Amino acid sequence: MTTATQPAPATGPTAEPPGAIRLMVCTTCRASGADPDAPRPGARLHAALEDAIAADPALAHLSVEPVECLSVCKRPCTVAISGPDRWTYVYGDLDPDTAAATLIGFAGQYRATGDGIVTWRERPDIIRKGVVARIPPLR
Ligand code: FES
Repeated sequence: MTTATQPAPATGPTAEPPGAIRLMVCTTCRASGADPDAPRPGARLHAALEDAIAADPALAHLSVEPVECLSVCKRPCTVAISGPDRWTYVYGDLDPDTAAATLIGFAGQYRATGDGIVTWRERPDIIRKGVVARIPPLR
């Protein structure tokens, strides 16, 4: 009798470590009047986030992804944050030169919640002022 080897459980592209948090950054927004040949603000913010996450092994739970539009085109930079069983939030008006560290800190606060709702008084100022939308957890 032969023994069949069971295949390993499927781990598709959506497999993430427990508590994984995703930051999605629109890399196509351009501020009105900006040089059309200059790097897009969101692309700069995305690069800053990637560099910071790559430099800190403690941030292995955090991923950053470029996206082409979050439908907040008049408020660059725009980002969304999501995680398992958590509300998804969309933010705009973020400064590409200064927002990365704040976003990473906020992602830690977000991850520490069970539902993604960080209390208002604990949210960084740019998060309070830049909120555009919140979407319930997908079931
Ligand atoms: S192009 Fe950035 S939100 Fe639409």
